[in-house]
Amino acid sequence: MKHRRIGDTEVSAIGLGAMPMSIEGRPDEDRSVRTIHAALDAGVTLIDTADAYHLYAGEVGHNETLIARALAGYGGDSSGVLVATKGGHLRPGDGSWTIDGSPDHIKAACDASLKRLGVEAIGLYQHHRPDPKVPYAESIGAVRDLVDAGKVRLAGISNANPDQIREAREILGDRLVSVQNQYSPAFRSSEPELELCDELGLAFLPWSPLGGIAQAGELGNRFAPFAEVAAARGFSPQQVCLAWMLAKSPVVIPIPGSSRPETIRDSVAAVDLTLDAAELATLNQTA
Ligand SMILES: NC(=O)c1ccc[n+]([C@@H]2O[C@H](COP(=O)([O-])OP(=O)(O)OC[C@H]3O[C@@H](n4cnc5c(N)ncnc54)[C@H](OP(=O)(O)O)[C@@H]3O)[C@@H](O)[C@H]2O)c1
Repeated sequence: MKHRRIGDTEVSAIGLGAMPMSIEGRPDEDRSVRTIHAALDAGVTLIDTADAYHLYAGEVGHNETLIARALAGYGGDSSGVLVATKGGHLRPGDGSWTIDGSPDHIKAACDASLKRLGVEAIGLYQHHRPDPKVPYAESIGAVRDLVDAGKVRLAGISNANPDQIREAREILGDRLVSVQNQYSPAFRSSEPELELCDELGLAFLPWSPLGGIAQAGELGNRFAPFAEVAAARGFSPQQVCLAWMLAKSPVVIPIPGSSRPETIRDSVAAVDLTLDAAELATLNQTA
């Protein structure tokens, strides 16, 4: 495994996105636990989750509970695993995603996440998505208060534009360590945020790095050069995609989602693929 940094904490260069194990199409718990254990066996020390990763109303935090259970039941040492959760989104149970960025909600959500994860302080707590009804400074101020109260060790934001990243940094100072935005061959419009993170030394966690649950398996068919480089180098198109992201900047830490041991093992092995300048130029033009 290769490593990168989120604030003062070293994590695996590729993390596990745990969302597919709790939303639409999720597997049974046994397969989910095997997937998380396969990630740990492969050296993954970053797991991304959120209180809103659940399907039905009344099971908020399904994904956090699953991760806590899988970590507790792991035969090896999982003490170095950074569990990164989020607050600020809700799922009422009808398939939709709603937002509540009010400080009261964020503080209550964090307390509930702490209990489900069974920790004294959340390793990385990310504000999930700006709420147009609430001034961003108020939402981020709540996250600052949580760090200052010792309930959160490191703070992150998600789905933020460059102005919001700068605003969050003003409010959080060094407490802000990461930005999690959508980024994949199909979705490149968060490149300005990636570049700003590189400049500021903030970790950049691309979400849906393979194009999202429904499209990830088709990456090679949708973007031929990724399939061509994959065939030439003996890797999968998904591994080429992750290696391409890792080459963008040392602050990039992709969090591919998985619900099967096979896929997380395949993704993690992308750290062993170093693409040359010509390959990167081709992929950059394609993507
Ligand atoms: N902050 C936000 O607003 C936000 C939004 C969306 C997602 N996220 C986070 O980002 C993570 C990743 O995004 P995502 O899960 O939406 O999409 P993704 O990572 O682009 O795709 C996930 C799918 O890719 C498949 N896959 C993974 N590795 C593969 C490989 N090496 N080869 C072939 N297929 C592979 C998995 O299949 P199997 O299921 O068959 O294993 C999984 O269903 C989420 O899990 C979540 O933690 C955050």
